[in-house]
Amino acid sequence: MMTGSNPLGHGRVAKAESAAIAEAVERLRAGAVVAIPTETVYGLAADASNADAVAQIYRTKGRPDFNPLIVHVPDHAAAERLAQFDDRASKLAVRFWPGPLTLVLPLQPDARVAKAVTAGLPTIALRCPAHPVMQAVLKQSGLALAAPSANRSGGISPTRAEHVARSFGEAMPLVLDAGPCATGLESTIVAIRENGWQLLRPGPVTAAEIEALLDEPPLPVSDAKIEAPGQLASHYAPSKPVRLNAREAQSGEWHIGFGVVAGDDNLSPDGDLAEAAARLFDALHKGDASKATSIAVAPIPDEGIGVAINDRLKRAAA
Ligand code: TXA
Ligand code: MG
Repeated sequence: MMTGSNPLGHGRVAKAESAAIAEAVERLRAGAVVAIPTETVYGLAADASNADAVAQIYRTKGRPDFNPLIVHVPDHAAAERLAQFDDRASKLAVRFWPGPLTLVLPLQPDARVAKAVTAGLPTIALRCPAHPVMQAVLKQSGLALAAPSANRSGGISPTRAEHVARSFGEAMPLVLDAGPCATGLESTIVAIRENGWQLLRPGPVTAAEIEALLDEPPLPVSDAKIEAPGQLASHYAPSKPVRLNAREAQSGEWHIGFGVVAGDDNLSPDGDLAEAAARLFDALHKGDASKATSIAVAPIPDEGIGVAINDRLKRAAA
């Protein structure tokens, strides 16, 4: 039930079982925001067709300006009601959905989405997530859900319910807790343009996989027009300085290791990049919460999902 003075309703972390999922659906239908797990990170979701609900996302995150949001849909059919799919977009959706890929496509003229979702752009970012809890909420609500990562603007993305709770404090919404996110890095964002495709944000689906499927290299992305805040130099930043490619820690540093570089914490002692991706944000949260005055991170191989890990680390260090 929506109650009292807190416009978010009673904020709490609830295990993502059927009663809590039903409550989340009820709140979303009433125009509230709810934090929901996906396979990448926890999202702060609201009804994409409801302008007040979308405004509540921006207020809760403390996003100063209106950056466009990713809209989550249960399947390809729901996506086609919101955006225009050409052959390349369909190919990508068939291959990678449900999963950690976001497609930026021309907006359908009659799409039922609030203006603030697309920030006035003629395009819309769509993702069909694989996580069973997000899928259940999408199907039961019948809504398309706008959802940025469930952290205060500029902070470290949340891969656990407790990260969401810590980030919002008093202003916490209902958080559906399904444990740690399996993939752990935000979705790959690909824009389909008339003359080709662009990688707007590296992620779990690699540029090489997309290039192989579409059989064409990406178009360059110009720095002049930044469309994704993920492209801003400083993003995903802990509150402490971050030093990269650190094989050894200096005094006062919290050392995040990888492989044989042991560290105070280790992203993957076996040197497994998928495991490192899943653990990255939790490790940054831990380093941020530690007594150390700064964070150092071991070198991460720049291959496969390592490219996305290094992208997030560069922004954390900027
Ligand atoms: O894995 C994810 O993608 C997570 C989960 C919750 O799904 N969501 C996420 O949302 O990372 P957010 O708001 O933190 O990042 C969305 C990115 C932003 O960089 C935004 O600028 C970009 O998507 N974006 C949204 N619509 C766009 C558009 N029409 N054109 C270009 N970029 C767009
Ligand atoms: Mg984010």
